[in-house]
Formats: sequence, C-alpha cells, structure tokens
Amino acid sequence: MQKDEGKVTKSPIARRSILAAAGGLALAPLAGALVTKAHAQTTNEQQTTVKGRRMLGSLEVSAIGMGVQNMHRAYPTTIPNRSEMLNIIRTAYDQGVTFFDTAEVYGPHECERILGEAISSFRDQVVITSKFGFDVDFETGERRGGRNSKPDHIKLAVEGMLKRLKTDRIDLLYQHRVDPEVPIEDVAGAVKDLMDEGKVLHWGMSEMGLKTLRRAHAVLPLTAVQSEYSMVWRGPEQEVLATCEELGIGFVPWSPLGVGFLCGAIDERTRFAEGDFRGLTSRYQPENLPNNLALFELVKSWAERKDAQPGQIALAWLMAQKPWIVPIPGTTQMAHMRENVGSTSVEFTSEELAELNTAVRAIKIKGARLPDAVQAMSGVEAPEKS
Ligand SMILES: NC(=O)c1ccc[n+]([C@@H]2O[C@H](COP(=O)([O-])OP(=O)(O)OC[C@H]3O[C@@H](n4cnc5c(N)ncnc54)[C@H](OP(=O)(O)O)[C@@H]3O)[C@@H](O)[C@H]2O)c1
Repeated sequence: MQKDEGKVTKSPIARRSILAAAGGLALAPLAGALVTKAHAQTTNEQQTTVKGRRMLGSLEVSAIGMGVQNMHRAYPTTIPNRSEMLNIIRTAYDQGVTFFDTAEVYGPHECERILGEAISSFRDQVVITSKFGFDVDFETGERRGGRNSKPDHIKLAVEGMLKRLKTDRIDLLYQHRVDPEVPIEDVAGAVKDLMDEGKVLHWGMSEMGLKTLRRAHAVLPLTAVQSEYSMVWRGPEQEVLATCEELGIGFVPWSPLGVGFLCGAIDERTRFAEGDFRGLTSRYQPENLPNNLALFELVKSWAERKDAQPGQIALAWLMAQKPWIVPIPGTTQMAHMRENVGSTSVEFTSEELAELNTAVRAIKIKGARLPDAVQAMSGVEAPEKS
C-alpha cells in the first residue's frame, strides 16, 4: 500500500470558520489567492466557494459534493499523486464542500483510505458516504465478481469501511447495486442493526429498481438515491425523480459531467487507452460522437452566454432541476475542483431553464451509457421475502 504524507493547508479552525461563512452565504474575501489562471476568466471570489446547502431527506449537505472514485486511478488509467488527492479533498472542504462520496469497491478499498486520511482533521464537519454490495474480499480487496448484500457480509463490509475511513460512523451508506438473491427487507434489516449500533446514520440505494426502492423505503426510510443523471443521460427523469419527490428522498447524480464529456474532455478524435472505462461505452465511440457532440456544442454556447465554463453549466443545470439534487463531480485536478465548486454560483432564470431544458431534450444521444454487463445490474428488483 502506498504511504503518503498529506499536507494540511489550513488548520481545522480556519476550515470551520470558512465553512460557517459558506453555509451562511456570507462569503468572506478568502479566495483571491486561490484563483488559478485556468479559470480566472470566469471566477470571482464567490464562485470559488460553494454557494448554498441542500437537504437530502433529513441530511443537510453542501449544494455540491465531490466523488473520489478516480483518486486511486483516473479514467485515462494514470495513478494520480496521492498527496495531491489529499490536498484537493482538503481544499474542497476549505471551499465549502461538505459531502464526499466513495465506495468499498473504489480501489477496491483505496479510495476509502484516501478519503479517510484527507478528512481526519475535520471529520465531524463533513458528511461521508460509502457503498457496499459488490463481492470484495475484506482483507485483500480482491473483487471476486458479482454482488453480495447478504446481511452478514454487509456488516463485515461496514467494519472495514469504518477502519479505512478512520471514523466510527458512515453518514450515508448506500447499497451500490441490488443483489438479485437477497430480499431488500433483509438488506434493510442489516442496515437497521448498524443504525441501532450508531455505525450508520442514513441509508440510500444506487441504480435500483423502483419497486425495490418503495419496498426498502417502507421498512427503513431512505435518505438518498444515487443514480447516473446528467445532460447526457436523463433516464431518472422518466420515473426515478418523481418517485424520490413523492417519498421525500434526495437524489445524488453520479457522473454528473458525463465522465468529462460535458467539459469538452472528449471530441471526435478521442480514442481511449486500454482499461479506460469510458472506452467501453458506445456513446463515446467514433460512430456516435459526431451526433452526440451536438450536446457539448449546446453546453458551450450556454457557457459563453452565462460567462461560465461548460462543466459549470452541466452541474448548474442538474442543481436547477430540483432543490434536493446534489451532484458529486469527480476530479483529480485542483483547478477542476474549483471550477466545479463555482457551478453553485451559476443560476438560470425560469425562462432560461425552460429554454435550456427544451434544447437539451431535442438532442437525441446515440449509443449506450454502459457496457451490457454493467447495465444489466441497473434497475434490478430484489426477490420477494418468503
Ligand atoms: N453509484 C455508482 O454506481 C457510481 C458510478 C460512477 C460514479 N459514481 C460516483 O460519482 C462520482 C463522479 O462520477 P465520475 O467521476 O464517474 O464522472 P464525472 O464526475 O461526470 O466526470 C469525471 C471526469 O470529468 C473530468 N472533470 C471533472 N471536472 C472537470 C472540469 N471542471 N473540467 C474538465 N474535466 C473535468 C475528470 O477528469 P480530471 O480528473 O482530469 O478532472 C474525470 O475524467 C464518482 O467519483 C463516484 O463517487 C457512482
């Protein structure tokens, strides 16, 4: 295992006061020195600090979060510098981000270690999530293939998470994918036991079938659903968002930047390295990119119109859909993190939002969002409890 010494850039007290200022939207003049050339053209002090907080069910978080999935290995297959990943997480906190997303399977285990180390000095001021549900060896982190939400497995998985995250509780624990062999009532029962022990405070589900979501919520109310949602993939608009609204469950869009596509990271000449997951999705293959890039052109035109960056338009569009939506963009670059935080300052009038929604809906994305084997794990309904 890699060992790195992360550099703490500010004392916890300094972080706390910055956070308090951000939470109250009383934005102190703190960011001038942090503005980088990369985004200086659109960034002012307010834009480098999170504007606003949101409720996921009863859980209060910053209006935007951060996913750390790629901090052990970025999509282009490079292994990022660990000290810098710690620095990005800590700086994100300085900028008002209080919602950090990871999972047992990211790494596996390694992203939980990175997050745990990064936040250890301000653990009580942030909301951290993790996810169980894949069959990961507790000791070695080896992925044995398949899913595993057996109650005993969940409980042991959480013990490992707590150690790696250097904490005594997970604020929001998700089932990563529905286990087709375990009734959701049994999963909820295991999570309830963990809640009774104080090891888990809230729970959620990811990419689940809707009947299973309702059954789960009936036995143990959920706080958040985390599923893919962005301008590139608007599947949750069909039923998931309405169900969340009805049940009072928050929504956390994963891959909110379309794995970078909505920032302009992919064009018609892009070809992916072996092992880059994005190369396995047909929507980013040469036969579909010329069609799909119309969406990026749209986003770019709105970025010019709003004096923002394209990725900021993509994130602001998500946050504008519902006040209980909290995106968790992932990045391994400090300038990108700051830019993503700045999206909370981009606002649309109701006329602009209607116009943008209409334009986004008019573009039909070609190709699948996920490889078939991965897609097959989405929308799964858990078996009935006998
Ligand atoms: N529940 C699930 O099944 C599930 C699945 C996937 C992901 N997730 C969660 O969602 C989080 C985010 O998803 P994601 O990382 O797949 O996709 P994403 O946030 O849509 O995009 C990440 C990609 O965009 C690039 N990027 C980020 N900000 C940028 C900016 N401002 N300008 C240019 N490029 C930018 C990143 O590259 P750089 O590193 O170079 O910035 C990275 O390649 C993950 O970390 C994870 O926590 C959950």
